[in-house]
This record gives sequence, C-alpha cells and structure tokens, in this order.
Amino acid sequence: MNFEELDWPILDRLRRTFLDGTFGRAPYWQGPRDLAQYDATFGERIGWKWDAVLGELGRRGWKLPARATTLVDWGCGSGIAARRVAGAFPTFSKAVVSDHSSLAARFAGDRLRTACPGLEVGEAAPGQLDSIAGGFVLVASHVLNELPPEPRAALVALAARADAILWVEPGTSAVGRELQSLRQRFLGTHDVVAPCTHQGACGLLAPGREGDWCHHFASPPAGIHADGDWRRFAERAGIDLRSLPYSFLVMERRAAECGPRPDDGWERILGRPRVFKPEARLHSCGIDGVSEVIVPKRTLPALYKACKHDEAPSFARWKREGADVVGAETE
Ligand SMILES: C[S@@+](CC[C@H](N)C(=O)[O-])C[C@H]1O[C@@H](n2cnc3c(N)ncnc32)[C@H](O)[C@@H]1O
Repeated sequence: MNFEELDWPILDRLRRTFLDGTFGRAPYWQGPRDLAQYDATFGERIGWKWDAVLGELGRRGWKLPARATTLVDWGCGSGIAARRVAGAFPTFSKAVVSDHSSLAARFAGDRLRTACPGLEVGEAAPGQLDSIAGGFVLVASHVLNELPPEPRAALVALAARADAILWVEPGTSAVGRELQSLRQRFLGTHDVVAPCTHQGACGLLAPGREGDWCHHFASPPAGIHADGDWRRFAERAGIDLRSLPYSFLVMERRAAECGPRPDDGWERILGRPRVFKPEARLHSCGIDGVSEVIVPKRTLPALYKACKHDEAPSFARWKREGADVVGAETE
C-alpha cells in the first residue's frame, strides 16, 4: 500500500480498539479496508517479528516435522503470520486461515492464495477446527490478550494436538509469562525448539521471578528509520520503530520413542543487557534457571562492547570460574 492512502480514521479506531481492550467481545473488523490498512501497517510490523523468529529457526536449521503438511493460522486477522510462515516453509501443501471474523478469514485467505499460488487454502471458523486431524502446524500471532477463557481454552487444546506450534506475541509481561506457562504445559508432549536452549523447567516461572518475563527484540528492516512514510506513521500511531519487543514459542511434538533432547550447555540471553561503566549485566537462561551474568569490560572487552552497542549475541556458552564468567562462546 502507498502510505499516501493511509486511512487514519480506520487506523485510529483499530489502535483504540487494541489499546482499550474493547476487543474480545465481538469481531471488530468492519470491512476489507480495515484489514488492508492493518496489513500494511500494524500487521507488517508484526511481520518483522515473524521475520526474526523464522530467521532464527532457519539459522538453527530447524525443519518442519515431515507429517506436518497443513498450516493452521488461528486468529489470522489479515493473515500476515500465515504468509510469513508459508513463505519460509514451502513444504506446506495446505493452509487453513481461521478467525471469528469471517471477513478476516476471507481477506487472509485471498492474500495467502495470491502470495502462495501452489498452496491449497481454506477458511474456517475456529469451531470448525475441532475436527482437524494430525499433520498440522499451529500458527498463532498476537491473539492471547484478546481471548476470553472459552476461545483461549479451545486454542490451547488445538495447540496441544499440533505437530508443531509457532506462536508469536507482543513482548509484554502478561503475554510473555502466559507463553512461559503454555511452554510448561506442552512440555510433556512437545520439545521446545525456541526460544529456550534447554528442555528443563522455565527459569522465569521460579519463585521470586514473578516480575520477569521472557522477551526479545527484533530489528525492523534496514532503512525503515530513514523511510519518511514509516516515520510519519510511527509518529502518528505513537509507535517506536526502533523497539520491536516480542515473545515467542516454537515447539514440536516429541517422537514417541525419544526422550527429551539432551542439554548442550548453550544459554539464551533474555531482553536487553544493562551496561555500566565497568561491566555489562545480562540475564542468561539455561537448564539451571535464569542467572545474572556479569561481563567485565576489562576481561571480556569484545562482548562488553557488543552489549554496549546493542549487538549482544542471542546465545552463549559461558566459561565460569566460580561465580565469575571468564570466557564465552557466542552466537
Ligand atoms: C491483533 S489481531 C492479530 C491478527 C493476526 N494474527 C496478526 O498477527 O496480525 C487478533 C485477531 O484475533 C481474532 N480473534 C479475537 N478473538 C477471537 C476468537 N474468540 N476466536 C478467533 N479469533 C479471534 C481477531 O478477530 C483478530 O483478527
């Protein structure tokens, strides 16, 4: 969409709806124009978070489970998540986009058919997914905080039956912690692919950690800050283009004959490091829980510098001497 065509009354109404919490009662999409406006703006920004998640899965060499040939996008809205996921995994033969707004499902279906002409695309109301049988990947994006208990329970039940779960939410504390709890719930049947490097209990669900939540920061595409259209949009919509906080969860059904994957010592760095004059402090999550790691400027200058310039790695294998970190392998 050309940004000249932005329809501010629509975007303001949608933004108010998201902020007020007046959603969840009834579908709020009033027509295809709402969805097109959302897709080009708020939706595209969500797409950048998906790019970060899918990029990470790609770097890890993660493949879809072989039998998972259907993609199900639950609460699809304009379908940005389905399009990003289908684009990243061309092995899907079928996709189902689902929303309690039939307008949204139709819009998402049309956009997905255009984007992926080889894919068989169906549209379904959420209740119609109860009968979906094995072989599917559940995609959920920015839905949790809109859901009253009943649809939330239906979504979780569907996720529990999926061969893989790809779930992205805003990086707020409430939904971040909710994803942590869902991870715990699915751990009996599914392995965690990301964000965790381990299959143990979530360290941020430990007592005393109630104020923390698992979140990360994605980068918008290069050049966005210099793009006058996006800058004007961000200013008007009250959005910080530099900050793309997100929480996510990727899990895959564990093969019956396998136990949980072994731990390989890698830890994930959560949130953003705090940088002080002599050191940087990081939250690092591993099999033994979440710990604060101190990176001294004097002994680990390269890592300290990366933290300072907002280029901290996502993963580390720490070399510790007692409580001190004396070296790190990073990715
Ligand atoms: C913020 S939008 C996110 C849309 C899309 N997943 C994305 O990431 O851009 C939330 C979507 O959830 C849908 N939704 C809300 N309550 C729902 C429910 N009870 N059942 C199914 N979909 C629901 C809304 O209609 C809306 O399309």
